[in-house]
Amino acid sequence: MSEMVEITVNGAQMQASKGSLLIDKLLDENIHIPHFCYHQALGKDGNCRMCMVEIEGQKRPQIACDTPIKSGMNIRTKGENIEKVRRDILELQLINHPIDCPTCDQAGECKLQDYYMESGFYESRVNIDNKTNHEKRIDIGSNVMLDRERCVLCTRCVRFCSDITKTSELGVIHRSDHSYIGTFPGRPLDNPYAMNVVDLCPVGALTSKDFRFKQRVWFLESFDAICNGCAKGCNISVDHRKEKYKDDQIFRFRPRVNKNINTWFMCDEGRLSYHNENNNRFLTPLLNNKETNVSNTITNIFKELSTNKEILFVLSANLSIEEMQNLNNLASKLQAKVTGFSPNTYDESFGDDYLRNSDKTANRKAFKELEISENEDDFNNWLTNSKLVIIIDNNYFEENIDLLKDKKVISMFSHINSKTIENSNIAIPISSFYEKSGTYINTDSIKQKVVSKMKKNNPLGTITSIIENLKEMIEKGTL
Ligand code: SF4
Ligand code: SF4
Ligand code: FES
Repeated sequence: MSEMVEITVNGAQMQASKGSLLIDKLLDENIHIPHFCYHQALGKDGNCRMCMVEIEGQKRPQIACDTPIKSGMNIRTKGENIEKVRRDILELQLINHPIDCPTCDQAGECKLQDYYMESGFYESRVNIDNKTNHEKRIDIGSNVMLDRERCVLCTRCVRFCSDITKTSELGVIHRSDHSYIGTFPGRPLDNPYAMNVVDLCPVGALTSKDFRFKQRVWFLESFDAICNGCAKGCNISVDHRKEKYKDDQIFRFRPRVNKNINTWFMCDEGRLSYHNENNNRFLTPLLNNKETNVSNTITNIFKELSTNKEILFVLSANLSIEEMQNLNNLASKLQAKVTGFSPNTYDESFGDDYLRNSDKTANRKAFKELEISENEDDFNNWLTNSKLVIIIDNNYFEENIDLLKDKKVISMFSHINSKTIENSNIAIPISSFYEKSGTYINTDSIKQKVVSKMKKNNPLGTITSIIENLKEMIEKGTL
């Protein structure tokens, strides 16, 4: 552990780790420090000069992103002198900027706009006709658009591709105020994490083709979730909006910082998986393929549970631990078997040595913890001997529908699985991952709990609430 020393920031004394970067301390303490090029995931580059601070005993202001902490440092991030220095640097940054905020999709989450507003630069000293113009609306690949005029040349995007994905698609071309970001001929931005450059870009130079002009960010509400796209369990923010006369709609998934799991990033497939939530939800309860209502469905499930003895529960590895536990308890009351057999959810071509995992489920490790069998022989034996199969979000039967021939089937799905639903006597919609609270264990055995603030998007709610209803009926022994 590194030595802790005392420093003073804006008159307040605090402990800091000796030799660590001053900017990290300021960011960790939520002390406002304007910066473009520094990013905790990418380290220092020292090119933008926005992070200037005054340090007692130093003749000139210093950049906080390249200043190691020393004992007794007395730092000022505020005050007339340092604010004037930053204002001058910002004015240089703005010389060739088009100031097209009203039509820029980054407005509302743009660092340049924020710093510009707080510096009070409302009158430009630069004649708009003398600006160096650059190309706008350049499709650089992988769902990303580049506007070269808005770029502040912080090189975060370049460093992401060289240091994190090691694909090096982006570079700085030419020199001085003719410099711009570009791809190499015949080599578009094309890697499974490419859209992270949109989050990294502090201004509106890199925008997502998928999201741009869909919604102004100040209209969006956000809540926490864990991506269910693979066993990594990346932490995400779900940005959504309920517009008048329209259903609540998700507009994007964004990575949420968790330094132990996904750091600041997520993969593009996980990021774009929100489309499946908007377009592919299963929302209407069905009884023998006819639409029905909630109470009718519950009543009929109870009838099936009371009249069938050989029951098999087939669980998805995307259910939360709490859901698995509840289903396990219900199954033991009914003396039923429980399996988590789902070999179809592995995809070797998806996994890599960064975030993406070949196991495309979020909670398979919970099967081990709860001793739920995934064994193929168990599955085959139990299925052969069962009369009633209860399938919970497990899509194994989509490609193996004949296995359900001559069985009574109850299925609970959050998304449309047409063949299994069509072959079910009762099919019930359930919450998707972002609509429910629960605990997940990721591929590195890290347990994460998420508390959802999303309203339920289906008539029956969570599996837990369905089970509570059924348990009550079983205990009363009546309908
Ligand atoms: S495109 Fe964005 S991230 Fe890349 S150098 Fe320009 S401002 Fe920085
Ligand atoms: S790596 Fe896995 S958990 Fe992370 S965003 Fe991609 S699919 Fe989701
Ligand atoms: S953030 Fe320090 S120089 Fe750019």
